[in-house]
Amino acid sequence: MMILVTGGCGFIGSNFIRHVLQSRKEIKVVNLDLLTYAGNLSSLLDVEKIFPDRYQFVRGDIRDKEFLRGVFETFEIDSVAHFAAESHVDRSILGPEVFVQTNVFGTFNLLEICRKSWPTAESMRPKRFLHISTDEVYGSLGTSGYFTEESPYLPSSPYAASKASSDHMVHAYFHTFGLPTLITHSSNNYGPFQFPEKLIPLMISNAREGMPLPVYGDGRNVRDWIYVEDHCRALLQVLEKGSPGHRYNIGANCEKQNIDVVNLICNYLDEKLGLLEGRHRKSLIRFVHDRLGHDKRYALDTSKIKNALGWKPEVAFEQGLRRTVDWYLDNPLWVKEILDGSYMEYYQKQYGDRLNER
Ligand code: NAD
Ligand code: DAU
Repeated sequence: MMILVTGGCGFIGSNFIRHVLQSRKEIKVVNLDLLTYAGNLSSLLDVEKIFPDRYQFVRGDIRDKEFLRGVFETFEIDSVAHFAAESHVDRSILGPEVFVQTNVFGTFNLLEICRKSWPTAESMRPKRFLHISTDEVYGSLGTSGYFTEESPYLPSSPYAASKASSDHMVHAYFHTFGLPTLITHSSNNYGPFQFPEKLIPLMISNAREGMPLPVYGDGRNVRDWIYVEDHCRALLQVLEKGSPGHRYNIGANCEKQNIDVVNLICNYLDEKLGLLEGRHRKSLIRFVHDRLGHDKRYALDTSKIKNALGWKPEVAFEQGLRRTVDWYLDNPLWVKEILDGSYMEYYQKQYGDRLNER
């Protein structure tokens, strides 16, 4: 069986490829990635070495239909695991257009090529199109309640709206053309290989270097965290055992206020590295101007995937957070390579004024 993984050089995609190749000897993977600012070949160096016969990388753009046609002519693709996307909410506020191009049109192109390339004859090997979506399509919760798979869509940010649009297109291809699609809605991931623009790796990198820790608003917004390897195990189970046309929430029932997450990171780094010139790293926290349209709270009801597929998360938050901090401390080169000109330009645009304001 051959899986085409799109966006496999990103955070979750690279963890997924590693998990698939380590746990399923019969599966081959083609990794299609454009290597945008968020894609990093060095996240898969070990995979290239260990699985040279079962892993192949192809550089290209899901917005390019001709390129996709070539990929499907070259490889006999049985399943698609579609991760490729613009994934950062703050960037979608600074520049939404590429989110529509990649997340909506890119997904549409993939659906089209699958519809045209996959004959429906019973004798063919089973096909699957797994679309990796997000809990953000449901919008924001108040202080109580959970999103279920039946919750209405109410996306708030351009990022979430672009993911919601692509979800609707995926569902339409199931309903209209019978394409065997599956959609997953995961909560916030954390773990190794996450680009340091996202909350947890950003705070680890800054706290380590003694740089300010920019917390948006009052820091009381709530996110529901899942360790990336738990998410990847769930995705493979959905791909293998999920029912086409269905959607599955994936989360670890782990709600935290942002400020509590930042404090935990600071405490752990103090414990591991000692104080920073006699000061606790918490003293680096700066409450800065809030994100526009900042969603207050996400929380997922995950009973469907637990009951239907028998999946459950295995990594507790403090354990996963410690593992994550350790990984970033042990891999300074991976982070250093990323802190190139284009990332620092974004960092200045996103945080320059905010950090000077208060
Ligand atoms: P990421 O930003 O780390 O990686 C995205 C990858 O997609 C990069 O390797 C990038 O090079 C590639 N890519 C971007 N545009 C492309 C294009 N036009 N053609 C080919 N490749 C392209 O993202 P991530 O955090 O790993 O998220 C992966 C998926 O999971 C996304 O679809 C995201 O919406 C979804 N998701 C993420 C989270 C999370 O917490 N990170 C939670 C739920 C869902
Ligand atoms: O819920 C799933 C989503 O989680 C995914 O679909 C997205 O791809 C992923 O980026 C993530 O979105 P968030 O916006 O929740 O993640 P982020 O790490 O950007 O922010 C987490 C919280 O921390 C959010 O409330 C904003 C806050 N924050 C973030 C940054 C980068 C800060 O307070 N300061 C910061 O500098």
